[in-house]
Amino acid sequence: KELRGRGVWRYSAFLPFPEDVEPITLDEGWTPLHVSKLAGGLRLKNEGLNPTASFKDRGMTVAITDAHRRGASKVICASTGNTAASVAAYAARAGMRSYVLVPSGAVAKGKLAQAVAHGAKIVKVKGGFDEALREVLELLSSDRSFYLLNSVNPYRIEGQKTLAFEVWEQLDRSVPDVIVLPVGNAGNISAIWKGFKELRDAGLTDSTPRMIGVQAEGAAPLARAFEEGLSELRPVESPQTYATAIKIGSPVSWRRALMAARESHGAIISVGDDSILEAQRDLARVDGVFVEPASAASLAGYRRALAEGLIDNGEKVVAVLTGHGLKDPDAVMRFGVDEMEVEPGKLRRELSAYQ
Ligand code: F0G
Repeated sequence: KELRGRGVWRYSAFLPFPEDVEPITLDEGWTPLHVSKLAGGLRLKNEGLNPTASFKDRGMTVAITDAHRRGASKVICASTGNTAASVAAYAARAGMRSYVLVPSGAVAKGKLAQAVAHGAKIVKVKGGFDEALREVLELLSSDRSFYLLNSVNPYRIEGQKTLAFEVWEQLDRSVPDVIVLPVGNAGNISAIWKGFKELRDAGLTDSTPRMIGVQAEGAAPLARAFEEGLSELRPVESPQTYATAIKIGSPVSWRRALMAARESHGAIISVGDDSILEAQRDLARVDGVFVEPASAASLAGYRRALAEGLIDNGEKVVAVLTGHGLKDPDAVMRFGVDEMEVEPGKLRRELSAYQ
């Protein structure tokens, strides 16, 4: 079938809707695939350039379209911030009321600002993301008036899988050797793997990429399960990382994430916060691409995978940069700030003394 338009709805033949569905959209997807200067063969899929500045919008346009056709008036999610921002924007667009449950005191400023701007009801939960999600699911077990927008909603996955189709088109209808991406609640790795399998099943490619998921060391239950070959998840009780987006100890889609890594001959690995920070700075200062800490885990993971022989030099690798750096302005202050203050009229003298 002919592909028309740009972005997520270009692939409507792969989405579970009748042809005459009216999408609720802000023109998500169709994000750039930059060639990185940091390593040969490395490409950067810049998902921070979506309407609310993260990959979540791909799934949100599809799920909110489903919510709309079912006549929902209230939508809800638990979130480390990006899902909340996306839910708030799409609910506004659809004329629905949104409720976002976030870990108290642990959401990056930019994300909170977005939820406020779009008029979400913000519910701060004492605890982390895992507790917030538990609260939402518990509420929904007795109150069916809310439409759930977490990635346990299969429509979210359907939207997010379109990243695979886009990468295939951007690489002249071929697939890369490896996809490397951050993993938190594990919806995205499951979605992108589903996308590549559908491409293969449609006869559009013979091969599929190895999926390498990356977690932060202090929040890495899946990396541990993968490494130890476990078939059950042992949650991390109080996850810690500076990459707040992926500060999750009990990922809901853990089964599908392990399957994606194993089926694709990939892996789930972990990286330390120091290497995430270094990767974030390198992306900003060498490639000119400003991402939030969780997204930099892609590059940190790529480097670790290369060092450990999971990726060979020169292989074609797409690192998914999931969210924009402006989401988390506090995080970049750790780069070290290069600044000075001058009295008017003294710039030239001050600068020469400074150099
Ligand atoms: N990168 C960013 C920037 C994220 O916000 C998230 C998840 C991930 C990666 C991981 O994706 O959960 O599908 O494995 N953020 C969720 C949220 C949890 O609430 O915004 P995942």
